[in-house]
Amino acid sequence: MKTIIEPFRIKVVEPIRLTTPEERRQRLEQAGWNLFALHADDVIIDLLTDSGTSAMSAEQWAAVMRGDESYAGSPSYYRFEAAVRSLMPFTHIIPTHQGRAAEAILFSIVGGPGRIIPSNTHFDTTRGNIEATGATAVDLVVTEAHDPDSREPFKGNIDLAQLERLLESSAERIPVVMLTVTNNAGGGQPVSLENIRATAAIAHRHGKPLIIDGCRFAENAWFIKCREPGQSSRPVPDIVRDMFAMADGMTMSAKKDAFANIGGWLAVNDDALAAAARNRLILTEGFPTYGGLAGRDLDAIAVGLHEIVDEQYLRYRVRTNEYIGEKLLALGVPIVQPVGGHAVFVDARRFLPHIPPLEYPGQALAVALYEIGGIRACEIGTVMFGLKPDGSEVAADMDLVRLAMPRRVYTQSHADYLVEVFEEVVRRRDQLRGLRIVSQPSQLRHFTARFVPLG
Ligand code: F0G
Repeated sequence: MKTIIEPFRIKVVEPIRLTTPEERRQRLEQAGWNLFALHADDVIIDLLTDSGTSAMSAEQWAAVMRGDESYAGSPSYYRFEAAVRSLMPFTHIIPTHQGRAAEAILFSIVGGPGRIIPSNTHFDTTRGNIEATGATAVDLVVTEAHDPDSREPFKGNIDLAQLERLLESSAERIPVVMLTVTNNAGGGQPVSLENIRATAAIAHRHGKPLIIDGCRFAENAWFIKCREPGQSSRPVPDIVRDMFAMADGMTMSAKKDAFANIGGWLAVNDDALAAAARNRLILTEGFPTYGGLAGRDLDAIAVGLHEIVDEQYLRYRVRTNEYIGEKLLALGVPIVQPVGGHAVFVDARRFLPHIPPLEYPGQALAVALYEIGGIRACEIGTVMFGLKPDGSEVAADMDLVRLAMPRRVYTQSHADYLVEVFEEVVRRRDQLRGLRIVSQPSQLRHFTARFVPLG
């Protein structure tokens, strides 16, 4: 059989409210053409993010009932801790309410003015938490990552020569080295085991810990299994253990590769760092055996971690995005290749060359997808990155639109519908116009800016 089917059946459904183009035009106007301002029940297929949007399994819902809400020493915590440790063998596992809380705690300890924290590419909350302490976040991803057409298998790798040079020139300013797996901001591209091993070796030679942002660790491990020489016959959990055995700690959002709707953790081996983190945790999140979560959330994560490394699931997961990617390429829609683990990234600047970057081709495409088909996607381009701290505006490196796939939520006919909406967008491509921003905050403008269409 050549069709890779959804390896699950549906027991509980959520109805989708079907809207008309006229209704969606009204909603867009009310929302100031900002898709973050829409009500989610006015969206037909929501590809804004894969974060916290997973469908939980029957086993996870059963675990929710088992959740124990004791303030201290809950059995839910010990089940959570055991599940994390079975894949990521760290000494101290500290739950948080989501990934950015783990980042905030870590950087409140190791960050600070003058410090430099290198990574392949920091996700925006990671960068924000580093910069909030006065430290500098540096992205050192390999050059192929900037070429949407390069089909290199590990475009998430860090550039080892640049990392080595930075450590040689500024070691005293660098408290930790980071790697984001997969590299979300770079298109969901994976990092190879070889690159993780070499990064750890360089960091350790300079006496620095390696911290992995592991949000999409299972997708990364699947890519290693499929693409890295010598890995194809190894079980995914073994590859995962290898990835983390080389590191000294991790931050995690359980809203991604743990199938949970909320949660995260910080894990480290260093006792002093763990003690400082737990002190901070008690101030900001909660007692160390629940860390900002309900006991039931910890149980949902424990089961989710077991399910996420299932190879049938991962094969289907990655195939869904490849399927959409192949069909978009056949329509002549340029995308970032190879397709990433959690999303398809459309190159809106190349798709709409008549819209200059400062008229936001990514936003224009995202708005068209919603107006034509009720699909909500996310601009990752000049709207998100173009506003500088001094108030000036410059075009971002690329103007992309991310179609992020919630886990186990949509079926192949939803994917086919998405492709049909793109067919219509392609037909209307030359009529699409850019937008102008009429109001915006001074930071993170993409969440709340209001636009008007040009022309
Ligand atoms: N690191 C990466 C690589 C992420 O993609 C995210 C979240 C975080 C950290 C922060 O985790 O949301 O639990 O606080 N990414 C989401 C996204 C929001 O849509 O890509 P969080």
